[in-house]
Amino acid sequence: MKNLKTLLIATLVSGLTFLYACGPSNGATEADNTSASTPAASADIDPAAKSDSKGVGKFTDVKLTAIDPAMADKGLVVFNAKCAACHKLTDQKVVGPGLKDVTKRRTPEWIMNQITNPVEMEAKDPVGQALLAKHLTQMTFQNVTDEETRQILEYFRKNDSK
Ligand code: HEC
Repeated sequence: MKNLKTLLIATLVSGLTFLYACGPSNGATEADNTSASTPAASADIDPAAKSDSKGVGKFTDVKLTAIDPAMADKGLVVFNAKCAACHKLTDQKVVGPGLKDVTKRRTPEWIMNQITNPVEMEAKDPVGQALLAKHLTQMTFQNVTDEETRQILEYFRKNDSK
């Protein structure tokens, strides 16, 4: 009789232990899956919507002052040489999205990281993932220097101020 009671208690305890072990670990697995499945998360992001992400790359703090027209003109030259095959500064898509108002929907850091680090941006940044999912073409690095990248940003800013 005493043995039966011990057996019952042991069964109950191990049952509870089993439930306890399953409960939180299942919860943790679900949470991990949710955060790891970034494609599913990025599918919820409208790539045309405004985002305050700084993106992924070396630019973490870009200080802006008044638009510098001479710098913007240099940016135009680089843009025409290295970007215009895939982008227009209008609403119109070519291979990539139209870049009108890009400085209104993206941070300066995000834009400069996109220009210098597009492959990692499309892999890791939620907006980058959403852009790739929408346009189905991977933008590649166009061998622009950091200075040229900053000039292109100025050209975008000038275009968006009109
Ligand atoms: C081979 C075509 C191609 C070239 C060349 C190219 N891009 Fe892109 N770009 C894309 C595509 C496609 C996307 C969207 C998918 C992605 O992000 O990869 C994109 C996305 C972008 C975005 C994000 C737009 C948004 O709505 O947020 C910016 C900014 C951008 N490109 C700037 C540039 C600049 C500046 C250059 C030149 C240095 C350039 N691109 C060269 C194809 C290109």
